[in-house]
Amino acid sequence: MTDPRQPDPRLAVIVLAAGQGTRMKSRRAKVLHPLAGVPLIGHVLATARELSAAHVVTVVRHERDAVAAAIADLMPEAVVVDQDEVPGTGRAVELGLGALPADFDGDIVVVSGDVPLLDAATLARLLDEHRSAAAAATLLSAIVDDATGYGRIVRDAAGAMQRIVEQKDATPDELSITEINSGTYVFGVAGLRTQLGRVGTSNAQGEKYLTDVIALLHDAGQAVTAVPVNEPWVIEGVNDRVQLARTAARLNAMIVRGWQLAGVTVQDPATTWIDLRATLAEDVELLPGTHIAGATTIARGARIGPQTTLLDCEVGEDAVVTRSDATLAVIGSGSTVGPFAYLRPGTELAADGKIGTFVETKNAKIGAGSKVPHLSYIGDTTVGEGSNIGAGTITANYDGVNKHSTTVGSHVRTGSHNVFVAPVTIGDGAYSGAGTVIRKDVPAGALAVNVAPQRNLAGWVQANRAGTRAADAAAAASGSVEGAEGSVEGAEGTD
Ligand code: UD1
Ligand code: CA
Repeated sequence: MTDPRQPDPRLAVIVLAAGQGTRMKSRRAKVLHPLAGVPLIGHVLATARELSAAHVVTVVRHERDAVAAAIADLMPEAVVVDQDEVPGTGRAVELGLGALPADFDGDIVVVSGDVPLLDAATLARLLDEHRSAAAAATLLSAIVDDATGYGRIVRDAAGAMQRIVEQKDATPDELSITEINSGTYVFGVAGLRTQLGRVGTSNAQGEKYLTDVIALLHDAGQAVTAVPVNEPWVIEGVNDRVQLARTAARLNAMIVRGWQLAGVTVQDPATTWIDLRATLAEDVELLPGTHIAGATTIARGARIGPQTTLLDCEVGEDAVVTRSDATLAVIGSGSTVGPFAYLRPGTELAADGKIGTFVETKNAKIGAGSKVPHLSYIGDTTVGEGSNIGAGTITANYDGVNKHSTTVGSHVRTGSHNVFVAPVTIGDGAYSGAGTVIRKDVPAGALAVNVAPQRNLAGWVQANRAGTRAADAAAAASGSVEGAEGSVEGAEGTD
């Protein structure tokens, strides 16, 4: 996405992101809601970057600190300007202009932080039209089926744009206009500066509208044009959560299609979600209900899903991940995960390993060919190569105050239903018996057992649970109800 062109010294982009986003009904600033794993404003900043403008200015106010922090993270070179208490897109642009060098003499592209699908190619075409027509303002419009909420483009009898009227200020006649203002513009800086100074706030919303600049330029005899886009979704704004979901689905469909054409099998595009920053190799196979989130990378031949979420994971070649959830985990080549595994941050499964059914791992390095096949929790642990952790094993890593680590060597075989009480080390080639609670280090090659000898208390059930079906079954098995008389005391002597 990096553009080899030099920044255009006659081009500035102003990104409007100060609005409240009331219709989202959210504690989070609208422009920080994610779309394909990137905040809305991140999509807009990426497009701005592709334009190679010499200046990118963002205007913020609502949730100011969170939005400014996101901008600093996404595009450190962008200038952040605070909007004051005067509301409206016109005021936002006016303040944005103030952040440009006083001698800046070029074009201003204005975009909204809530229009994420607008692409750089569309903007570049708009800029070309603007410059070749030597216009004072050129904006993107769209003909839509439902114009509700948008500003309408008012044209004269000859079809030239005269002004824009906002939904809330429009007459019934104007409301029936189906050509809408996308909120994306190019302005020559001089005319924009002059006319913004003349825009007032006497309208239904008491705001300083950027859209009023169009009528002022037109009335001053300057060229203003509206260029309709072919596909209205390109300029669809996200104002509420219905639009957020629709925009997300549209973007996802494009991303999925892109990976399909790059050699990824996607069985069910409708239920497969791939974030923008994920990368997939050829012959990756995605089964239904799979979300490849964040900066996940998946190597050739891996099969993921169904019903799997991978966030910021690295998956090696030919690995198989079934019905599982993983975050910040490395899954080695040829290894298998799931069904129903939960890999938390810091899990590193080496090549040809296994994290099996109903297994939770966290901060666990599991060496090549090692397996944790069933029903276990493995946390703060290092396992060497070729080891097998028995079914139902728990690393007791937390003493209620501090976390401790467990080290398991290579070619270890631990029994079923063990507890490793950390900190503890199990040496290379060691074994442990079923049900062992390992509280002390196990030397290499040793068998650890600490389960008490089993005692069978003969007749205990019939003596203590008389009248139950278990007692009846026991009686039938022993062939005599008399046999039930053995006391607990008597039974205790029997090993
Ligand atoms: C605006 C346009 C409308 C257009 C629509 C397209 C105006 C007056 N109206 O309306 O013609 O059809 O976009 O989506 O411009 N913002 C600020 N400061 C403010 C107010 C808004 O920075 O004081 C930002 C918002 O964060 C947002 C953008 O400007 O990114 C648009 O604001 P919004 O309130 O969504 O405008 P609309 O009512 O949608
Ligand atoms: Ca809007």
